[in-house]
Amino acid sequence: MQTVASIAEVRSLVSAWRAAGLRVAFVPTMGNLHAGHIHLVSEARKRADKVVASIFVNPLQFGPSEDFAAYPRTLAADQEKLAAAGCDLLFAPTEQVMYPLGRDGLSYVEVPGLSDILCGAFRPGHFRGVATVVSKLFNIVRPDVALFGEKDYQQLLVIRLMVRDLDMPVEIIGVPTVREADGLAMSSRNGYLGAGERRLATEVYATLQALAAEVRVGARDYADLEAAAVARLELAGFRPDYVSVRRAEDLAVPQAVDRRLVVLAAARLGATRLIDNLLIDMS
Ligand code: PAJ
Repeated sequence: MQTVASIAEVRSLVSAWRAAGLRVAFVPTMGNLHAGHIHLVSEARKRADKVVASIFVNPLQFGPSEDFAAYPRTLAADQEKLAAAGCDLLFAPTEQVMYPLGRDGLSYVEVPGLSDILCGAFRPGHFRGVATVVSKLFNIVRPDVALFGEKDYQQLLVIRLMVRDLDMPVEIIGVPTVREADGLAMSSRNGYLGAGERRLATEVYATLQALAAEVRVGARDYADLEAAAVARLELAGFRPDYVSVRRAEDLAVPQAVDRRLVVLAAARLGATRLIDNLLIDMS
């Protein structure tokens, strides 16, 4: 696997592949790779002749009081994992390469509505930062297909909407969440958890499962179910941002006819913000 840091090098390698008629898949990441990321690379391998990954901790998607500085940067270990998973090319740019003139006056990609609810309400500007960097990465790599985890469900929908609205010539594939043996969704941020917090962290998935079970047997009083789930997380020592039952397709509040739902949660445990979600298919 080759690692490059310049836009020109990525363009020239990928152009040669495209000229040879090869199909290119892309997996954007912020690094500190775990089995969830590697699963995306394995799925990419099945769908294309060449797999490109990127590692870039994107300052644009972090709020001023968030963990941009503390975010784990583990390039050497990440390179080994990507190579072993069959990645062909890693694009690992610096901030100077991605934002040479800084943030002031930068053009942004905005996906209104979907970016302002749930996580977007608690992290203003986050999804604008994601949409902007993913647009830039798509323009640099020009993949045929790009893979995103359902772990970040709202992000996946924001990207799908952006691609649709702006006619970006890339197919978006969502990949199911990879979990630890005890159910905790794998995340680079799990490394922030102390041993006691790590044991408690499974409560997020357990709470989502309990709520989903009630919906599956016919409960429709979503506001009550959400309030009970928030109370359960609070009792366990979390500070929940939200627990919410939504329509899977667009995160709208579900109507009686909706059969594909998703229950999403975001909660802080100590200094760590955990998110998770569970799809509910009643069709
Ligand atoms: P990051 O958090 O590194 O995640 C990179 C990709 O891995 C995302 O598509 C995410 O949904 C997926 N992923 C993370 N944990 C997963 C798990 N447990 N199972 C399956 N997939 C998982 O998401 C980002 O980076 C950034 O916002 C990015 C899209 C790279 C833009 O900066």
